[in-house]
Amino acid sequence: MRNLINRPRRLRRGESIRALVRETRLTVDDFIYPLFVCEGEGIRREIGPMPGQYHLSIDELVKEVSEARKLGVRSVILFGLPKEKDAHGSDAFAEQGIVQRAIRALKQEVNDLIVIADNCLCEYTDHGHCGVVKDNDVLNDPTLDLLAKAAVVQAKAGADIIAPSNMMDGFVEAIREALDENGFEHIPILSYAVKYASGFYGPFREAAGSTPQFGDRRSYQMDPANRREAMREAMLDIDEGADMLMVKPALAYLDVLKELRERSDLPLAAYQVSGEYAMIKAAARLGWLDENRIMWETLTAIKRAGADLILTYYAKEAARQL
Ligand code: PBG
Repeated sequence: MRNLINRPRRLRRGESIRALVRETRLTVDDFIYPLFVCEGEGIRREIGPMPGQYHLSIDELVKEVSEARKLGVRSVILFGLPKEKDAHGSDAFAEQGIVQRAIRALKQEVNDLIVIADNCLCEYTDHGHCGVVKDNDVLNDPTLDLLAKAAVVQAKAGADIIAPSNMMDGFVEAIREALDENGFEHIPILSYAVKYASGFYGPFREAAGSTPQFGDRRSYQMDPANRREAMREAMLDIDEGADMLMVKPALAYLDVLKELRERSDLPLAAYQVSGEYAMIKAAARLGWLDENRIMWETLTAIKRAGADLILTYYAKEAARQL
């Protein structure tokens, strides 16, 4: 027997002692459940590359959210598939737009629910870009006016939190101003402050039909190579009045999340995006990974890196197991 003083294994000798010294724990309050709402009735259409996730008509959405709520999930974020798309993404800021109707239904039918409104144009524009397009360029300031309009309409419909996601410069300030002018000074802004131009959004774009019809999003979303720029984006959003910040995607950007945790005291969210979910699902289907272990391992990693909140398509499943 060697005379080893340091034996870390002493604290790993059984589940009870491991639980005693566990540093990171997930709770159901950490999760935000993203959902896709479409027109029609009785529709529950599985999204090909996102097994277990669906296009839901409003009536089915209410059922899905009620179920999730019963399992303890308290927050959802909505994405809309409008009847019609146009150059300005009008459905995003129409009083009767798909998401606005969905918000009203959820607030009426489900108790104690936080409804977060994703604030962007790409699901509603026929060209698939997140803003107003002119001569193949995505215009910044004219887009801000539309986002501000959408935020007010979302708040009127009953949204509890507005989450601007399109990465135009000044979007937090524009939305804050519009909300305040319309009596919504109490509505918080969760800014997608650090959003990378990522291949991990692939399945979402198929789900939302929001693939850009020309070019890509690199002139507004961030270069995956940049970490300092992420801090700059976040600090600007804090100055503009963001109440919470998001990093997106999650797993490939944990270093960014960790640094932001050290630099800001605001609540931080991380989005485990469609591609992260799809990779796990696909490998599990092939029998190459144990889905459940990977679900918990990735969610734990995201929280350990500094996220207070996690947007995840696994919200309901994880809640079921907690
Ligand atoms: C843009 C938006 C995107 C996602 C949510 N909101 C992606 C994009 O830039 O196309 C992606 C979410 C996911 O991949 O799960 N409004």
